[in-house]
Amino acid sequence: MSVSPLPSQRSDDALDPTAMRQPLPDAWYCVAESRALKRNGLTAVALNGEQLVLGRGADGAPFALRDRCPHRGMALSKGPFDGDTLMCPFHGWRFGTDGRCRAVPTLSTHDAADFSRIAVQRFPVRESAGFVWVNPSLQEGGPVPAIPALDFEPAGSLVVALEVEASFDLTTLSLVDPGHVAFVHDSWWFRPSKELREKVKTFQPVEHGFVMTSHATTKSSPVYRLLGGVPEVEIEFRLPGVRLERIVAGAKRVANYTFATPLTANRTLLTNALYWSMPALNLLKPVARPLMRQFLTQDQQVLQHAQAGLDRKPTMVLLGDGDLPSQWYFRLKREALESARAGRPFANPLERRELRWRS
Ligand code: FES
Ligand SMILES: [Fe+2]
Repeated sequence: MSVSPLPSQRSDDALDPTAMRQPLPDAWYCVAESRALKRNGLTAVALNGEQLVLGRGADGAPFALRDRCPHRGMALSKGPFDGDTLMCPFHGWRFGTDGRCRAVPTLSTHDAADFSRIAVQRFPVRESAGFVWVNPSLQEGGPVPAIPALDFEPAGSLVVALEVEASFDLTTLSLVDPGHVAFVHDSWWFRPSKELREKVKTFQPVEHGFVMTSHATTKSSPVYRLLGGVPEVEIEFRLPGVRLERIVAGAKRVANYTFATPLTANRTLLTNALYWSMPALNLLKPVARPLMRQFLTQDQQVLQHAQAGLDRKPTMVLLGDGDLPSQWYFRLKREALESARAGRPFANPLERRELRWRS
């Protein structure tokens, strides 16, 4: 994809342009809800064109393996798992949760074939904020963007995930795009006024991203007003495709986290997780779920139509302050790729600045 105009963009020769079109290879991606991973059960997920099988070992720790038996390619997620080994349902080869082949039951005791060196690829896996995170990179890279975490104990949470038929980049841009909100998310409960108003917000660089800090006004969304008082809102974007909205009103805390996960080159998973510290809000869950789904579906629909346009002509025109965060996304991604290739630490290329737009 080419993007223009980008006055601050450095020349493309330093970097393979196809690398810029792909999701960051060495980063943590949200692949499943923690509660979806049960002991003795297996979960199949897609990540960046790869198929993975997820599960929990006897100690409860999650594992992530390539969902492909080395023998003849069978999906290991289709076979049984006894909490210790996965059995391929095709010819019964067994694999430990570390990926190593443990048994080939069809071998005769007279057969000298050695299976001890056969292994399924194992991927690094972590758990945080109620989700399972996998890094699809096979090379041991340098420091990568931190996995999102919660800084309070939630009384409840609500998760909605949708698959979007759009590239990872296009979907991720929607997380940093203030311009689409007034047009795409115009539901009464989110944006009661139809008027476009001038916005001035200060942005500053943070580790692997940028953050916008502000005090919500009385004119803000009813969602904010629900908290009472004048809540303080902080919205962070962080590579590879993470938006962290943190709302503080006195002792009350709400976090609205959104994660983009590349499934294939043209399918992206959009996961939205809302967490709150007030037990009373648990009662609103049945009301909030369809609203959150509606909000995410608005993004899904517009992104799919935009992707169809980009498929016909893969260029964008990024214009004005409102599109600067989108340009910043590409600059951060470029720096992540360049610093990894040069084997040097990531140096955030952004500076603190005020942005003005109407929304
Ligand atoms: S394909 Fe897995 S054991 Fe043959
Ligand atoms: Fe959106």
